[in-house]
Amino acid sequence: MANPYDALVIGSGAAGLTAALTLAGAGKRVAVIAKGGLSEGSTAWAQGGIAAVLEPGDTFDSHVEDTMIAGAGLNNRATVEFVVENAPAAIERLAQLGVPFNPGESDRWHLTREGGHSHRRIVHVDDATGWAVQQALEKAAGANPDIVLLPDMVAIDLITQKHVEGGSEAPRVWGVYAFNRATGHVETITAPATVLATGGAGRCYLFSTAPRGATGDGIAMAWRAGARVSNMEFMQFHPTCLYNLEVKNFLITEAVRGEGGHLKLPTDGSRFMPRFDPREELAPRDIVARAIDHEIKRLGLDYVHLDISHRDPDFVRGHFPNIYDKLMGLGIDITRDPIPVVPAQHYTCGGVLIDLDGRTDLPGLYAAGEVSQSGLHGANRLASNSLLECFVFGESAAQHILSHPGVAPPHVRAWDESRVTDSDEEVVVQHNWREIRRFMWDYVGIVRTTKRLERAAHRIALLRQEVADYYGNFRVTPDLIELRNLVEVADLIVRSALGRHESRGLHYTADYPDLLPSAIDTILIP
Ligand code: FAD
Ligand code: SIN
Repeated sequence: MANPYDALVIGSGAAGLTAALTLAGAGKRVAVIAKGGLSEGSTAWAQGGIAAVLEPGDTFDSHVEDTMIAGAGLNNRATVEFVVENAPAAIERLAQLGVPFNPGESDRWHLTREGGHSHRRIVHVDDATGWAVQQALEKAAGANPDIVLLPDMVAIDLITQKHVEGGSEAPRVWGVYAFNRATGHVETITAPATVLATGGAGRCYLFSTAPRGATGDGIAMAWRAGARVSNMEFMQFHPTCLYNLEVKNFLITEAVRGEGGHLKLPTDGSRFMPRFDPREELAPRDIVARAIDHEIKRLGLDYVHLDISHRDPDFVRGHFPNIYDKLMGLGIDITRDPIPVVPAQHYTCGGVLIDLDGRTDLPGLYAAGEVSQSGLHGANRLASNSLLECFVFGESAAQHILSHPGVAPPHVRAWDESRVTDSDEEVVVQHNWREIRRFMWDYVGIVRTTKRLERAAHRIALLRQEVADYYGNFRVTPDLIELRNLVEVADLIVRSALGRHESRGLHYTADYPDLLPSAIDTILIP
């Protein structure tokens, strides 16, 4: 059954809710779907904060240069300037929504520092910025009668011209088929404009700071619908994820290093970053993560230490209350003890190619946030530029939709389940999930080689066939929908990595250790 929305937003994180609020603020009726609870995306987990030029000693040029340096020259300068210049207004909108950024002593807000930034320019809410942002956005969306929030709806595939009765329409996206967890049925949600805000693909990897739902669904859906995807080889590994056998995937924010934390070898307590980069612990993430990986492999360690115990205990507790409490619960007092850390997948720099209006290649389809490749991050994202990108592109996509009224959706075919049955081998799905995450970690991680990438490509080809058979024969389930997308995205990552014959930013391959003279995006065409 078709639904009467002016726009459909897939995703209820920073990017999706920003777009929805702007659209509804102009009187549009918007449906926002999320595949689980509304707060289950990465946004709610963000710790460090949001980067913006907010004090007189800082400049847009400096933020632009820091972003380009971290991105190893692959960034699109026009995009970087667009985002940096729109950052202060984005922060102001959040403050208006009630996000309680920590106040500064002399400035309006306290600004912290993270790797790769040459100034203090990160606004934050303690060490749990994302949670505060998510709650403020949800509260505003929940209070707006023009926003219909639909949690527990798992998007399966975008509706395109081939799903239209008669099938003769020009390429265009008209909404989505989504699995309703409550009813177990697939629904057809149509709208003149669809905004993909589905976040990243971190769960392709065994160890990731990203939440369970980061399975690259939006990237896979857009690719299947015919949109170009770019720079998927640039998977960011955060240097400092807590090493703990029970609590997996807990991030220790980069702001710990920004406020003076040191990385040390557990063997003799010595600092090692000065041997790797003059910026030491505050070098961009790719450099710090590779240095840790190198030391762990060289010395056969399980982890390295992150130590902030030399700072005043009140300062540490005051700046990092959530990390302090969480680690106290695990028997680590961060005011006295070092924290065991390892790198883990953290952010998907590549994604669906968009322009400054958030437009993808397909009319009617926009993308914003981690699902997209806007040109902001290049070969490596600068810390705290990601939430910022969500606010800027959520807004610009919404503005473009508002100024270009869409066409009413035609009659589309309902989801056809007539030739499938219930699965009798759910174990296959679980096994394939585990397998893909394991070999992506082993073969497509921080340090790559052509041989390892080819091994991964071989396994992906086998899995792709198995998953296609399964998908063709059995009724969809959320796990199967995600597995199909994980395989698709893993394939895009490996193909992109195999195509890059240099080491740049996050893509480091022992077979091509040098940087080529010109920086060229990887663009995959469906
Ligand atoms: P998300 O917030 O991930 O939201 C995705 C939404 O899409 C969810 O609602 C999800 O349910 C929905 N969705 C996905 N697939 C489907 C589907 N098939 N059907 C329906 N809905 C779907 N960045 C910073 O700038 N500063 C930080 O301090 C920071 N800290 C971080 C800490 C952690 C632990 C992590 C994991 C990331 C951090 N990042 C940080 C990165 C940043 O949080 C994310 O890039 C950003 O929040 C992504 O927002 P988003 O709106 O694009 O997607
Ligand atoms: C962190 O707090 O270290 C994460 C910041 C980011 O991912 O930008």
